[in-house]
Amino acid sequence: MSAVPLEVVEAIASQELASRPSTPNVHISLNVRGLSQSSTLAINERSARLQREGRKVFRMGLGQSPFPVPASLVEALRANAHQKDYLPVRGLSELREAVAAYHNRAQGIARTTDDVLIGPGSKELLFILQLCFYGDLLVPSPSWVSYAPQAAIAGRQHRWIDTRREDGWRLTPAALDAACAEDPDRPRILILNYPSNPLGVSYSEMQLRALARVARRYGLVVLSDEIYGELHHQGRHASIARWYPEGTIISGGLSKWAGAGGWRLGTFTFPPELRGVLDAMAVVASESYTSVSAPIQHAAITAFSGGPDMALYLQRSRRVLRQLGPAIAARLRAAGCELDDPEGGFYLFPDLSALRGRLAARGIHDARLLCERVLEDTGVAVLPGSAFGRSPAELSLRLAYVNFDGAAALAGAAALDDSAVAEADFIDAYCADTMAGIERMARWFEAL
Ligand SMILES: Cc1ncc(COP(=O)(O)O)c(C=O)c1O
Repeated sequence: MSAVPLEVVEAIASQELASRPSTPNVHISLNVRGLSQSSTLAINERSARLQREGRKVFRMGLGQSPFPVPASLVEALRANAHQKDYLPVRGLSELREAVAAYHNRAQGIARTTDDVLIGPGSKELLFILQLCFYGDLLVPSPSWVSYAPQAAIAGRQHRWIDTRREDGWRLTPAALDAACAEDPDRPRILILNYPSNPLGVSYSEMQLRALARVARRYGLVVLSDEIYGELHHQGRHASIARWYPEGTIISGGLSKWAGAGGWRLGTFTFPPELRGVLDAMAVVASESYTSVSAPIQHAAITAFSGGPDMALYLQRSRRVLRQLGPAIAARLRAAGCELDDPEGGFYLFPDLSALRGRLAARGIHDARLLCERVLEDTGVAVLPGSAFGRSPAELSLRLAYVNFDGAAALAGAAALDDSAVAEADFIDAYCADTMAGIERMARWFEAL
């Protein structure tokens, strides 16, 4: 059979398009209203334009892991490239077993293969959870960009619970209680993400225990988004499932701590009490994505099984982030921003309220405009706090300190020890570009 050359196909297609009436007779009614593309995309487009104009851009908008996928995981994927069968909807049994064993090992949470659901990224699992669960979504503000839009698409109500800078923007038990008290029996999902995107903060055991008590009082389902758990800078991540096992679903995956966002593998781990939710989600999965890519699932067993390679990779990742995060926070504090040192992940959320007067004198009254001006004047791409549920007038920003060569930094981290001492030489050698962007931004704040 002779193939039709691509140019011919394109020419025919464009003629067909051109010959169609300019007012099409197709009636459409969209089911997604009042939502726009994420502000991450807008910043990316602006950054790309500046780069095309030959300007230096410091890309701290998009939160992608700077580190390469661990070599043992890449090797496992290579060895499994031949896996071609559709896998079970809930996920490969050996992988689900490895995920359950991982939670046992890491947190002492007893789960079995049957408690685990594998999906194409935790984002997709979060979405189908909202499709399946008939109830409201409680989301602390600020939170990751996609929780609230997903609720809107799924036709669910969501409610922001406000947090305060004095509490490190953490959800307090009192605020959670207040959000539930007026209608105590309503079915609800609380999303708790720690270490947090966008904040970089986590919760202490005491804080988790106190939140667990309130969650139990109101019978909440807690979706504990622990996708950055392994990137707790001190390696001391604790899951709320330890204190509220019967109501907590743990969300995780390979995207952040294994640097494999594009592999698209997420995990939900349920308590036996919520098996019905898992079953319902499996029905939706079976009618939508069927199952996650087979080679990726086979390879992921290596990540969840741990072992010396993974441990070393994680230790070095934490060392790098533990050096860089506090150094950036200190420089921004010196320039008048309010923020604490980060505890995990690779984000910071500076509050510029103290600079409001000086920013207003430059005509800057909201975070979106602030980000645009920072990008235009310094080349640093960051996102406005309003993209994370804060009010548009609040002068908060989220920056992702990921624009450095993660492979080189991991190699360099071999020479660091695990103390909390700042190593200026390490930062100069491996994260110079990131610090150069921070320096430009800090000087811009100082010169206001
Ligand atoms: C807090 C948080 N949760 C979930 C996700 C989704 O991750 P994935 O779908 O890659 O598993 C992200 C990704 O940026 C995130 O930052």
